Amino acid sequence: MPAIAANNREPMRPFPLPEVYQLLEPGPVVLLTTAHQGRSNVMTMSWHMMVEFTPPLLACIVSSADFSFTALRATRECVIAVPALDLAPKVVEIGNCSGRDIDKFAAIGLTQLPAALVAPPLVAECFANLECRVDETRLVNKYNLFILEIVAAWSNPAQNDPQTIHHRGYGRFVVDGETIVLPSRMP
Ligand SMILES: Cc1cc2nc3c(=O)[nH]c(=O)nc-3n(C[C@H](O)[C@H](O)[C@H](O)COP(=O)(O)O)c2cc1C
Repeated sequence: MPAIAANNREPMRPFPLPEVYQLLEPGPVVLLTTAHQGRSNVMTMSWHMMVEFTPPLLACIVSSADFSFTALRATRECVIAVPALDLAPKVVEIGNCSGRDIDKFAAIGLTQLPAALVAPPLVAECFANLECRVDETRLVNKYNLFILEIVAAWSNPAQNDPQTIHHRGYGRFVVDGETIVLPSRMP
């Protein structure tokens, strides 16, 4: 076995720890809607991951600094709406202002549709909408991490080949590209 020089990591360079998320963030960037005290609100979110197939469970980070956090913790309901590329400018706007200060649906121009099982609205312009109830809050105090159960799901067949957007930090996004299909036993 060739010897490994103790300090030779060529071609690697140190990568700043606060920027690691830019390498790993899976996306797609989504919108999260809430309804609380007679008002609906929407925020942008990219820190999320599936954690179970059936029932479908989703882990996500909603910062305690967000207005949405209070609504989600109090009502235990939200909708995850998945936008395609055409909504990218609005998605960034939504993520850079707070429902504390403005009615984002009116100000940014998104259409609310009634959900079937939860109070927060679907977003008509998004190609998919997932109605969610909070399933688990044990990691909320430590990590702002909510586990959501998806209890109803909707998709718009008119948006038949949506390109999702994936966050790379500071307003940079990768746009979903070519699909390849390889043999796989896993779903
Ligand atoms: C691309 C993008 C991704 C974001 N991802 C998250 C996230 O995963 N979790 C989070 O708490 N905030 C995230 N944010 C920030 C919130 O969307 C932002 O704080 C928003 O203003 C919260 O709105 P609210 O105060 O109305 O709830 C993201 C913002 C952008 C632009």
